Amino acid sequence: MVFGFEVLHKDVAGRIGRLRIGSKTVRTPALLPVINPHLQIVTPNEMHEMGVEALITNAYIFYRSERFYEAALERGLHAVLDFPGVIMTDSGSFQLSVYGDVEVGNRDTLEFQQRIGSEIIVPLDLPTPPSADRERAEAELEVTLARIDEACGLVGENSVLAAPVQGGIFEDLRERAGREVSERGCVITPIGAVVPLMENYRYRDLVRVVLAAKRGLSPGACVHLFGAGHPAMLALAVAMGCDLFDSAAYALYAKEGRYLTVHGTLFLGELTELPCSCAICRSHTPDTLRRSPESERLLALHNLHVTLGELARIRQAIMDGTLWELVDERCRSHPRLLEGYRELLRASPSLELFDRSTKRRFFYRGDESCQRTEVVRYHRDLARFDMAGRVLISFFGQPEPGFDRCLAFRPPFGPYPPALAETFPIGQCEIPSWDETMVRSGCRGIAALVEANPDAEFTVRCEPRWAELVACEAPGVQVISHED
Ligand code: GUN
Ligand code: ZN
Repeated sequence: MVFGFEVLHKDVAGRIGRLRIGSKTVRTPALLPVINPHLQIVTPNEMHEMGVEALITNAYIFYRSERFYEAALERGLHAVLDFPGVIMTDSGSFQLSVYGDVEVGNRDTLEFQQRIGSEIIVPLDLPTPPSADRERAEAELEVTLARIDEACGLVGENSVLAAPVQGGIFEDLRERAGREVSERGCVITPIGAVVPLMENYRYRDLVRVVLAAKRGLSPGACVHLFGAGHPAMLALAVAMGCDLFDSAAYALYAKEGRYLTVHGTLFLGELTELPCSCAICRSHTPDTLRRSPESERLLALHNLHVTLGELARIRQAIMDGTLWELVDERCRSHPRLLEGYRELLRASPSLELFDRSTKRRFFYRGDESCQRTEVVRYHRDLARFDMAGRVLISFFGQPEPGFDRCLAFRPPFGPYPPALAETFPIGQCEIPSWDETMVRSGCRGIAALVEANPDAEFTVRCEPRWAELVACEAPGVQVISHED
């Protein structure tokens, strides 16, 4: 079977990719809605018409189902679910780990998943919860890796293996797990056991765990974030380099009358308006939606629309190079998401290596913007400028006689030669009136330039209100200050 994952466009560590499985393709980042064959409130076929190219279902449910076991074996999943796209099956490890009673082995589930025609199969991994100590996380990782090894020998030619990355909360174990699955040649690599982190809003830990796994994984791995799919966190997850998501949230939340938005979840019962542009929201009021005999199904459809719409917006942001702006916007809806975002920004020095070199724009959105990859990269690149003699850095942007080189200054980046005035990021950055944080960040650029050119003599010309900051952040430069 033809199988491959290609990265087509990048932004931050996020990517637009093409996953090819046989004759089918899935454009990533993608949501694989979770289908429970017993409770199809939105049918797979309807989802396909909404643009869903792949879905995930649980092999364990088919295995135990009186109604679907034989049918799946005889007719195959695609016919039983009436879905022409890619079907991934989960082994049910996660359910087994939560509800106990393991009654199916690794070999059994892998063989069964292939017999029912699943295209992406998952071994019986052990999802180590965040509360597990190191000893347990290590022992369970060994079991998961052994089961992946066994699975590698059992995959036939009509399926591909998804190899889960476990390791609990321990970053070195996650990194090792990532490296081990990539070394085995596994391309689809779900990061597992993160549901408890998301349920408890532990986004900082989520970011640490995902970035650790990514450090071990090959950059060519197609990374699935198991059990993630709330629209408010997708931009953050994509920016870390996750490509696939699966979520039952659209249906589970609908059951409880919960209305998904990109800013968080609302109760339908508490709404006086439906703040969404999907056809269902535009043709109902909260009241008529609540009272409809189809209420749960309509709410599930809305929830799915919002989630798919957000992924489309994320893919567009990647094309435009505006993913940081979108992440910034989304992560301000909840303080714990903001913590996750800040953790991601702390990783900018390593994310910078994956980021693209030019973008449509850089919109300054507050202090956090000073830590973006573009700023880190600019400061790193400044060290490569070769300067000699007397160098002027003018906050007013005016060249002056008596200097060998005259540079202008643009926060949060720093000094730049006039020749780079139109190039990214200097030419495309939009900033509000200067504040202390951004000027401080720009001064770090001056310091980098000074440090790289110890023989040059630097003069900074600025307004009096910046003089002290410049002297403090860029020691060794002569500061001349006056009003404009
Ligand atoms: N679904 C959500 N988390 C997990 C996980 O860690 N492993 C598997 N197999 N399925 C999951
Ligand atoms: Zn809607």
